[in-house]
Amino acid sequence: MAKPDNHILIIFGASGDLTARKLIPAIYELFTGDFLPEKFAVVGVSRTELSDDDFRKKVLVESPYLSEEDDNVKKQFASNLHYCALDPQEGGQYGKLVEKLAEVDAEIGNLSNYIFYLSTPPSLYPIIPKNLASVGLNDEKDGWRRIIIEKPFGYNLETAQSLNERLKASFHERQIYRIDHYLGKETVQNVLVTRFANSIFEPVWNRNYIHHIEITSAESVGVEKRGGYYDTSGALRDMVQNHLLQVAALVGMEPPTKVDSYHIRNEKLKFFQSIKPYRDDEISNHVIRGQYVESVIKGENINGYRNEPDVDPNSRTETYVAMKFFVDNWRWAGIPFYIRTGKKLPSRVTEVVIHFKHSPYHLFANHKGVSNSHNQLILRVQPSEGIQFKFGMKIPGSGFDVKNVNMDFLYSSLTDAHLPDAYERLLLDCMMGDSTLYARGDSVEAAWEFIDPILKHWENNPDEKIFGYPAGTWGPEHADSLIDGKEFAWRYPCSNLIDDGVFCEL
Ligand code: BG6
Repeated sequence: MAKPDNHILIIFGASGDLTARKLIPAIYELFTGDFLPEKFAVVGVSRTELSDDDFRKKVLVESPYLSEEDDNVKKQFASNLHYCALDPQEGGQYGKLVEKLAEVDAEIGNLSNYIFYLSTPPSLYPIIPKNLASVGLNDEKDGWRRIIIEKPFGYNLETAQSLNERLKASFHERQIYRIDHYLGKETVQNVLVTRFANSIFEPVWNRNYIHHIEITSAESVGVEKRGGYYDTSGALRDMVQNHLLQVAALVGMEPPTKVDSYHIRNEKLKFFQSIKPYRDDEISNHVIRGQYVESVIKGENINGYRNEPDVDPNSRTETYVAMKFFVDNWRWAGIPFYIRTGKKLPSRVTEVVIHFKHSPYHLFANHKGVSNSHNQLILRVQPSEGIQFKFGMKIPGSGFDVKNVNMDFLYSSLTDAHLPDAYERLLLDCMMGDSTLYARGDSVEAAWEFIDPILKHWENNPDEKIFGYPAGTWGPEHADSLIDGKEFAWRYPCSNLIDDGVFCEL
């Protein structure tokens, strides 16, 4: 298996939560799986004064997030970790980083290939690249230089455009990797394989056969300790603008000419550009927002959102959003896409449901007026990763009564191999120079173009309704009215895909 070139990964925000919880464990898994190059090091950067050993102790020895217990392996891995204390805001301090990198390069024999990972507050995203450029750390004459930017990429269209501009003043687009961890999920990538590696799906994957598409990402957790951040963000920015529109693009895009970063990302851009913008007067009826209120679950009192730490007690930030939109192109004209996401819903489930149209004539409609089956293809992203197809079968016995049955495939039956975590996969891709699963600047802006008018509408109309829903329920019932027709409704998914229709474990 090809390995990445020797390099150093420099993590800004090294003393932060994401580094300890996600980045170091992902790098550690890559190390134990033998995916890293022979000469590799991590240099953690943040303001806190730490020695290399302190840093190793903090993110490794004392970390509750690492899977492997073997002390020898940890020791070997620890020798790859280094630390450089500096204030990322202060351009004058970057000389220290240049020195540290030269020192580590000499120690491990790297040829100054660097990845800079920005796991810092977003206010530093435009500042760090400029400061790196001021000391020549963007320059690729000695080795390659890449930069990974965490979400949120902008707060609205204007700030996203300005961030793109400022990044591009110091780095080329090909050096910039905008991370969206949903694209690192195996099951999200499998949407492309399901569609384009099989001949049976693509012929029906269009307005002629599909009635509508439903994308749900439900979380049972609330805002936990992130109230301060979340209250300025809300579900639309936090989940829809990035993760769920990216998933929608993989479901709706045209087949790429080649499976590579350029072609796949071109098709995704076209999808975003085809989403029909809302008129201001459509927003109230097409976008429903909600906020969880207190409730009692299994005898336990659950806080409402406004009582969560660091949340404004009068907050009108949405913890739930459901929306209906159209994609104005040849394939999807007239076919609604529905997206729904929320915190404190009954279970943690992310899935895409392709709802097929009914057969044109209800040949087997029974005496109770129940029509033929409603075919659905469910692409389960998490948990219980897999695919389920629902179709009608004859109930044995006299007559022609039809019952909906399920055909399932679970990933767990395909492989015992370790399924890489999204961060593992994405980091490795960046190390290999493959940006396919990273968001490109133009599509991030195109996604914001669709989302921005909704945010502006809410801002300009503070009285626009926000519906309370008791924590632990499926969100405000007003979202039901988004889906047209008597025979279709939101799916209420169980966490266990294959138990669906039998019983529901919540
Ligand atoms: C993050 C959001 O990007 O995604 C969180 O900021 C959310 O609010 C999380 O909980 C969901 O990710 P996952 O992988 O648990 O579905």
